[in-house]
Amino acid sequence: MMQFTVLTLFPEMFAPLQESILKRAQEAKFIQIRLLNFRDYATSKHKNVDDIPYGGGAGMLLKPEPIFAAIRDLPPPTGQRRVILLSPQGQIFSQKKAKDWSGEEELVFICGHYEGFDERIRELADEEVSIGDYVLTGGELAAMVMIDAVARLIPGVLGEDASSEEDSHCSSLLEYPQFTRPADFEGRLVPDILVSGHHAKIKQWRRKESLRRTFLRRPDLIEAVTFEADDYPLLEELVLEHPTIALWRIKWEHLCPQPKRRRRSSNKSEAK
Ligand code: 6GU
Repeated sequence: MMQFTVLTLFPEMFAPLQESILKRAQEAKFIQIRLLNFRDYATSKHKNVDDIPYGGGAGMLLKPEPIFAAIRDLPPPTGQRRVILLSPQGQIFSQKKAKDWSGEEELVFICGHYEGFDERIRELADEEVSIGDYVLTGGELAAMVMIDAVARLIPGVLGEDASSEEDSHCSSLLEYPQFTRPADFEGRLVPDILVSGHHAKIKQWRRKESLRRTFLRRPDLIEAVTFEADDYPLLEELVLEHPTIALWRIKWEHLCPQPKRRRRSSNKSEAK
């Protein structure tokens, strides 16, 4: 069982994790989510968790004592424990990080609020992570994003057969378009190949559409793609359909089928 521990001043913000797939994952003991309010560790009579910055300036900072006390009071970990500080100054969270973290025994998230942390809080963390280049009012929404992304990679959480292996971003290609019934919705038709049941053709179509989507929507992801020999004809078809895709040709040129070398002729008349 993977343990997620969250240090937050607003444990009630985590209600969304009690729904749907993560609700089932907790009931089935694939994951456990423990919410700790570090205000409970404030020692002053008014339970202050923040204070004004030394040197002046606007806003309040989280004080070190309650967060240090909360971390020190955690039960001894059953295995590897990783402490993550949520902050817009952190490294950007990614599918790779989710995958790396999904192998840990326990993840501890420290959620900030207010204008910032006392710098000494950073020494409690193994890493500082952000969910993107924008500023949130606190780390809670970011922690929920990360918990969701990690939890769904734990075997069993998505169900028996469902696999997270085909997701967008795990192969660094976007997913191909998908359709369900009806085959004709108000004149909008499902592509014939998908209806045909020809599995090899369907596989090719999906690969081509994944490539097309990635080139057109997320060209920044193409750098990380490894093209396969079977991609060559699909890529050349895509160039005819979207000429700008030719700009990436350097990335697949080496896959160009070489013309077959003619066997040396045994024709006696060619000999001297
Ligand atoms: Cl982790 N925290 C805050 N406050 N803002 C963010 C963030 C985290 N990630 C992106 N913006």
